[in-house]
Formats: sequence, C-alpha cells, structure tokens
Amino acid sequence: MDKEYKIPKHVGIIMDGNGRWATKKGLKRSAGHAAGYKTLKKLAVHILNRGVKYLSVYAFSTENFKRDAEEVNYLMDLFVNKFREDKNFFMKKNIKVIFSGLKEPLRNDVWESMQEISEMTKNNDGGIFNILLNYGGQNELVEATKKIVNDVITDKINIEELNTENFYHYLFQDLPPIDLMIRTSGEVRVSNFMLYQIAYAEMYFPKVYFPDFNEKEFDKALDVYNKRDRRFGGIKK
Ligand code: FPP
Repeated sequence: MDKEYKIPKHVGIIMDGNGRWATKKGLKRSAGHAAGYKTLKKLAVHILNRGVKYLSVYAFSTENFKRDAEEVNYLMDLFVNKFREDKNFFMKKNIKVIFSGLKEPLRNDVWESMQEISEMTKNNDGGIFNILLNYGGQNELVEATKKIVNDVITDKINIEELNTENFYHYLFQDLPPIDLMIRTSGEVRVSNFMLYQIAYAEMYFPKVYFPDFNEKEFDKALDVYNKRDRRFGGIKK
C-alpha cells in the first residue's frame, strides 16, 4: 500500500441483505443472520488490521423489534450465544467491544452478555468495535438532549460552552465522526444510522448482500474512498 493511501479512522456499516441472501438460497431468514455474523467476525478483524481505529456496525435497530417474534428471538439468542462464545476470540485479537443503544426492552440475558464482553475486553487497544444494538439515531439525539439539559440544570456545564465538538460526549459512545459509511445490499438509505456522526461521511452502497461482503469487498470500498475528494464544506486548494 502506498504512503498516500488513506485509511478512514472510523468506518460504519449498515449490514443489510441477510434476509434476501437466505431467501435467494432457499433458506430461512435466520440462516442469513447466522451467515452475516460469520462474515462480520472476519470482517471486523480485517478492517481493524487495515488500520481503521473504530468500526461501528448496525446489528439491531429499535425499529427491528417490529419484526416477527420468531426472528427477533432468533437474533437475540444469536447475540447472547456469540457474545459469550466469542469473548475470548476478541480478547485474543486485542479488540475492545462496546455497544450503542438503549437497555429497554432488551432481555436480561442479552444485556448481561453485552456487559460481559465489554467488561472483559475493556483494556484492549487494538481497535474499537462498536455494536449498535437496540439503537436508533433519533433516540441517540433525544437521549443526548436529556443529558445536556440535566448537566445544565445541575451546573455541570454552561449552555454557552456546548459546541459541535463536545456534543459527541453526550452520545451513546464518544467516538470520532464517521469517515466512511457502507450500506450493503444496494439499498440507498441511512435508516436512522448514527445521524450526528455521519454528517461528512463518504457513502458507499455496494450491491452485495451482507453475508457476501467479505474482506475483498471491503478493500474495494477502501479504494473507492481513496478516490473521493473530501472537502468538509470547503473548497479544494
Ligand atoms: C438487516 O438485514 C440485518 C439485520 C437486521 C441484522 C444484522 C445482524 C447481523 C449481521 C448479526 C450480528 C450478530 C452479532 C452477534 C453482532 P435484513 O435481515 O433486513 O435483510 P433483508 O433486507 O434482505 O430482509
């Protein structure tokens, strides 16, 4: 890789198309989610090995609770099983696992498995893997607003001190802005994904379903990112 090759600091992925991937193969939608996790595990290691410092992935939106109970339960069981099974894997890879989202109405076992893996990996420094679970971007902004109001009325901050930089402290996780947002499956929508953090993100919408979004596909996304001209509202010198 040449010296000029740019590696985004923070990558966000909307992992879309698990259901369609499975249906196309004549399988149940749940098989698509299982395949999606297999892809995700390899991809997370690859992406952080490429030098990306933060990876945020959309595993379950608050709106996903509207799906059939069978699918919701399958996903919740998958979360519990994989967080428990793969704690040691992420320890070995030196990856810190964190979460963004609300506690309610998650099942206790799901919440506990999230606490366990984040507690176990909290001192790892080989990259941050942020999993969005029971997450919504608008919710995140509403929750941030509540925290700010609380800090103002308890005199922790002066309202005039609030700015676009320190606003990040009030989000579910205090992470840098997203540089590259990827949504698989060909859908071209943001779907409530990290609304504050994607303000200047480059966006990439590959047509592959998430289970097929492998390491090679991610490297293609990096190449596309490298051809983009990021100006952040300014003009090119
Ligand atoms: C969207 O595709 C995908 C989801 C709602 C679930 C994503 C979850 C995973 C990849 C597994 C993550 C697991 C862990 C343990 C973090 P869809 O099902 O809406 O696909 P469709 O649009 O084709 O129906």
